[in-house]
Amino acid sequence: MTTILGIESSCDETAAALVTGDRTILAQRIASQDEAHRPYGGVVPEIAARAHAERLAPLIEATLADAGMTLDQVDAIAATAGPGLIGGVMVGLVTAKALAMATGKPLIAINHLEGHALSPRLADGALEYPYLLLLVSGGHCQILLVEGVGKFRRLATTIDDALGEAFDKSAKLLGLGYPGGPAMERLALAGDAKKVPLPRPLKGSDEPHFSFAGLKSAVMRAKQSGQYSDADIAASFQQAAIDCLIDRARRALAAAGPVNALVVAGGVAANKAIRGALEALAAEHALDFVAPPLALCTDNAAMIAWAGVERFALGQSDPLDVAARPRWPLDPEADAVRGAGVKA
Ligand code: KG4
Ligand code: ZN
Repeated sequence: MTTILGIESSCDETAAALVTGDRTILAQRIASQDEAHRPYGGVVPEIAARAHAERLAPLIEATLADAGMTLDQVDAIAATAGPGLIGGVMVGLVTAKALAMATGKPLIAINHLEGHALSPRLADGALEYPYLLLLVSGGHCQILLVEGVGKFRRLATTIDDALGEAFDKSAKLLGLGYPGGPAMERLALAGDAKKVPLPRPLKGSDEPHFSFAGLKSAVMRAKQSGQYSDADIAASFQQAAIDCLIDRARRALAAAGPVNALVVAGGVAANKAIRGALEALAAEHALDFVAPPLALCTDNAAMIAWAGVERFALGQSDPLDVAARPRWPLDPEADAVRGAGVKA
């Protein structure tokens, strides 16, 4: 049975995991840096890189100890090689290279987004390619046709903010602190989604993409008007975001051709209202709906190890001089969109 060590360090979680070919997570550890970044209202790259450098080696040792394993029993070492904050990515990748060199085990360089994109297959052994994936996180907001390992067709992306970014920025406007997504979801439970008139950018548009910057600005104006409670703003924001997401997903389903399932992954997939709306959309199209458990939605190393399992099964590995990449699109053929390249 294949066992892969996975390492994740592309943003503000330092993580290691051991995952087998039969989808067992033997052990996983995540050290969150939320506390370190909270005073700044967002992730500070220098602080993140330093924290990864301090924590990663002991974290890997502890993960191996949790599983009662040594590195000799691992078949390959998979690490996030991008996209992400380059300092952190380099810490994880260099560590993986050193371990690979010391043990003679293969190195597998993983695209963090592929980790998210394949994580539903770790959670659900029945999920077959192709599937339509909504990848919604703090840095990304894409709809992808997933046809296989390394085979992605991007059907939509955001022309400005990612959905998680819109959650985080709106939460900041309401004084909810960082990270904002979970706090917005909690506050929305106490509010009325019909109270605050907010726009649905690009809803119904012929353009396949997302836009959330206008929604965030409208949240700012609603807050400044002093007319609405924070809970009503949060609930109305979340509903507007869901309406946009569903409209764009419906359009992508029509464009994608036959798929086996509608799948959601990435940090925002932790949102229960969003999961519920997507589940209803899947039912409407008589499709299976797959959403990984919450712990697999936000950044973690099990998804990186799993992407390693899939690549290892295809006989793939990478040379020890493979480079860390701050940007690394899943579908390099996808057309550039207006506004693209403005942010990571
Ligand atoms: O995938 P992830 O952990 O990191 C990135 O690669 O971006 O996603 C983090 C993002 C943040 O923007 C966070 O606010 C958002 O996911 N998020 C949520 C929820 N939980 C996390 N957004 C909405 N509702 C949630 N419950
Ligand atoms: Zn992520």
